[in-house]
Amino acid sequence: MPRALVTGCAGFIGSQVAEALLATDHDVIGIDCFTDNYPREHKQANLVPAGEHDRFTFVNGDLVTTDVEALLDGCDAVFHLAAEPGVRSSWGQRFDRYLRNNIRATQRLLEASAQTPERRIVYASSSSVYGESETLPTPEDATPQPLSPYGVTKLAAEQLCRLYHANHGVDAVALRFFSVYGPRQRPDMAFRRFCEAAAAGAPIEIYGDGRQTRDFTFVGDVVSAVLAAAAADGVGGEAYNIGGGSRVSLAGTLELLAAIAGRPFDVRRRERESGDVQDTGADNARAREALGFEPATDVREGLRAEFEWVLEHSRTRRDGAVASAG
Ligand code: NAD
Ligand code: UGA
Repeated sequence: MPRALVTGCAGFIGSQVAEALLATDHDVIGIDCFTDNYPREHKQANLVPAGEHDRFTFVNGDLVTTDVEALLDGCDAVFHLAAEPGVRSSWGQRFDRYLRNNIRATQRLLEASAQTPERRIVYASSSSVYGESETLPTPEDATPQPLSPYGVTKLAAEQLCRLYHANHGVDAVALRFFSVYGPRQRPDMAFRRFCEAAAAGAPIEIYGDGRQTRDFTFVGDVVSAVLAAAAADGVGGEAYNIGGGSRVSLAGTLELLAAIAGRPFDVRRRERESGDVQDTGADNARAREALGFEPATDVREGLRAEFEWVLEHSRTRRDGAVASAG
């Protein structure tokens, strides 16, 4: 039975990678230390479906302090999703968390892999490595020029993957995800906030004029790409874009969501946030060629899935609150 390590297994994407691996008959070890970027209850809820499998082992541990060699022992592949993820919160004091959980944690994982370099490591990189792209859609060989401190740490960790491959043959591949959304999306992210507001009839905030564009990528497509990257030949040391297949403005996504929710949004305009790029767009050609990657879910369908999940999720929370009050 193949055995996989999933780091950040209680997170939005990591929890769904763990479930997909369990569904394909892997034994899965998941590690997470419930960092404070959003409430622990959300992450514990993400873990519930994986926890129902007897092939899943959860380690409540921190990659920066845990014995990583022992953790890796017997694993055939590593899915490295653990990180401090937000773009806009990476300024000021919180940068320490980005250095620690993005750069140091990745370096420890790679260092512990130097003696067993043949094990595939799939690293979750980010479109934020590009900054303001001169070319859209952006190919992987565009010069990376991050605009946020977060992007700098994601690029640094990607470069660590590349140099451990060059020096020690560590079989690490980086996937640059573009604004991932869908069920379990982090509560700081745009679509999650907009879906919650649509469900509650509450106002939303738009940073900037709403004309910024993103290549929004459905989480199910990201999970497929991650699994494909673990199985593909000859991808060690490389980086691949993983994008949703079309670039949509934020204002355009609000129209789609208002139609899905059946009510218009009460929009509050705010200043554009530091670190936010104007546009992102993935040239998926290399991922298509090397990984057979093809996004299958468009934004309308994916937004509907996230909105339905938010409705269900808020109903479950309400029922839980009523039951505990009674
Ligand atoms: P998330 O915050 O939901 O998940 C990350 C998890 O990692 C959290 O549960 C956190 O507790 C855990 N973690 C952090 N540091 C840790 C450490 N030192 N030891 C153990 N666990 C630790 O975030 P997400 O949105 O699921 O992002 C997953 C990965 O994908 C991250 O690497 C992120 O940078 C990358 N990424 C995300 C997006 C996106 O749009 N969500 C886009 C590009 C890249
Ligand atoms: C996302 C993730 O948060 C990062 O972890 C990831 O690395 C990055 O994608 C990536 O692709 O590399 P972001 O594009 O900022 O970052 O994702 P959203 O939170 O979906 O924001 C999209 C846009 O909506 C941004 O311009 C943001 O400023 C805006 N926004 C967000 C609002 O206008 N209002 C909000 O309440 C939230």
